[in-house]
Amino acid sequence: MKLFDVYPLYDVTPVKAKGIEVWDDKGEKYLDYYGGHAVISIGHTHPHYVKRIKDQLDQMAFYSNSVQNPLQEGLAQKLGAMSDCENYDLFMCNSGAEANENALKMASFHTGKSKVIAFTNSFHGRTSAAVAATDNPSINAPINKQQKVTFLALNDFDAFEKAIEGDTYCAVILEAIQGVGGLDEPTTEFFQFIAKKCNDHNVVLIADEVQSGYGRSGKFFAFQYHGIEPDIISIAKGMGNGFPVGGILIHEKFKSSYGLLGTTFGGNHLACAASLAVLEVLKDENLIENAETLGAYFKEKASGIPEIKKVKGRGLMIGLEFDFEVAGLRKKMIVEQHMFTGSAKNKKLLRFLPALNITKNDIDLFFEALKKAL
Ligand SMILES: Cc1ncc(COP(=O)(O)O)c(C=O)c1O
Repeated sequence: MKLFDVYPLYDVTPVKAKGIEVWDDKGEKYLDYYGGHAVISIGHTHPHYVKRIKDQLDQMAFYSNSVQNPLQEGLAQKLGAMSDCENYDLFMCNSGAEANENALKMASFHTGKSKVIAFTNSFHGRTSAAVAATDNPSINAPINKQQKVTFLALNDFDAFEKAIEGDTYCAVILEAIQGVGGLDEPTTEFFQFIAKKCNDHNVVLIADEVQSGYGRSGKFFAFQYHGIEPDIISIAKGMGNGFPVGGILIHEKFKSSYGLLGTTFGGNHLACAASLAVLEVLKDENLIENAETLGAYFKEKASGIPEIKKVKGRGLMIGLEFDFEVAGLRKKMIVEQHMFTGSAKNKKLLRFLPALNITKNDIDLFFEALKKAL
């Protein structure tokens, strides 16, 4: 059997990693400023993370959601306290798409409605409703197109008002900072406006924090820059530092009932151990503050490079916009400078999504290499 060929691959075979350093099968070292697509939050093979997972594996890797699992309860408590979201309940699943799928489903159960408002350049995953709310027709199959989604431009107050008053929607879903789409954000005024309109019209506001959450933006959640309270918050990526885990935080005003949501693997013992380790390291090493401080340092350094036309994003979720398409630059950064960076739907944007424990020296190395590659 061969692999179903859906990924254009760089010719690099990583076999070992530590912090932001990655080694390939020939022993060549690379620096990971991409975090495996914003997944690596506390650094590759962090010793506390490895130990927590190994210890759990020695005890028990998995049991289903039909028995008590104190690890899940401990995780919910710690997550609530660290994210300042104690008035939400946690439902665990396995990926970002699945988190958004469950968020949209909850919105539909809760309101009895089915239409969704999403935004231009959004990315919410590849499952049924999540992909339908993703602004990319080429990854929507006919089966996904059955969903009813209205796409609006971010920060267009009039269009939003007209839409929400003219039709019946169950949910508004948006990324607090767009990832794949290219680091655009709702303004505080727009976020507060849509939060109020959602409340007035019994529409559920879903903040997709799959990429921007878990400290990456310099706050635990990026929506926290805007003084709003979403109804549902979806999480994944940085939550497990590479262990496949996701979840939704559901505001306590939602009513739960047995069987409403469910999953075989979600919240399993190993996933909880990985997620607990991530929270412990984020806290013990002050990584959210580090993301904020080093994000500012990165922006300062970027401002001295004339080829960079715009710097977008917050914390360590940053996009550098050039006045040319960056595919060639990205390839040079990997092949010649041995540094991983990310791309975006906006082809002129180079994305910087490292682990949150990088240092000033790591950023200096990045800019030295970028100057050479330019
Ligand atoms: C904002 C956002 N939401 C959802 C997803 C989907 O997550 P997953 O690939 O884990 O399904 C992604 C993935 O890139 C994302 O960036």
